[in-house]
Amino acid sequence: MPTTITLAVTRYRPEQETEPTVQNYEVPYDKDWVILDALNYIKNELDGTLSFRWSCRMGVCGSCGMMVNGEPKLTCATFLSEYLPGPIRVEPARYFPVLRDLVVEMSDFMQKLKKVKPWIIRSAEKPLEEGEYLQTPAELDLYKPFSMCINCTLCYSACPVYGLEPTFIGPAVIALARRYNQDSRDEGAEERDDILSEEDGIWQCTFVGECTKVCPKDVDPAGAIQQFKVTNTNRWFKSLLLPKGAK
Ligand code: SF4
Ligand code: FES
Repeated sequence: MPTTITLAVTRYRPEQETEPTVQNYEVPYDKDWVILDALNYIKNELDGTLSFRWSCRMGVCGSCGMMVNGEPKLTCATFLSEYLPGPIRVEPARYFPVLRDLVVEMSDFMQKLKKVKPWIIRSAEKPLEEGEYLQTPAELDLYKPFSMCINCTLCYSACPVYGLEPTFIGPAVIALARRYNQDSRDEGAEERDDILSEEDGIWQCTFVGECTKVCPKDVDPAGAIQQFKVTNTNRWFKSLLLPKGAK
């Protein structure tokens, strides 16, 4: 068993370099350490200038996503032991502009997410005295898998369509739109369908399926996209067959 392992970490400090560089750090090897533990060791013991994001250290906040040996991973859920004997390449999340070292700019994703209104839309709330909006277990099952998304954006880093065409609204946003469209309390499906039918919406997806493969929460964004394609096609056919206003 090795006593140390090397991390080859991409550095980018915009005030002192125009291109990213790679810096090697030798850290203690511990079979219980995840990549994030090694990065924190570097930050605390070797080089306090290294920048990266994390918060929960338990696969919940979605902020520690990076490329590990070329694959999008949550670094708090990826063990050093998977990459023995090393070195392990750690790079910023692919397809996002890099602000510094391993920190990427997320505002494009945030704006796209807001566009599909990821909250419950209702034309009117029922009076409080009528009680809660109850759901059956079957109704819950329809949207629960999509509600597991932690906005880590690993699916964007895995998506070649997003890599080629950054205006594509992308897998997680579509999965989250599906989460609300499938919720029996929601009445906003048509609004979201219209947004997702636009040029940069669901039809950009060529069903590579990598988004679903890398998702650490088993959300299945690729499945959500295919479901949207079916429902939106049905809606379009209906609009052709039915008289105006009867959709
Ligand atoms: S769908 Fe999965 S990979 Fe994509 S942002 Fe949500 S949790 Fe992350
Ligand atoms: S630190 Fe929160 S998901 Fe990894």
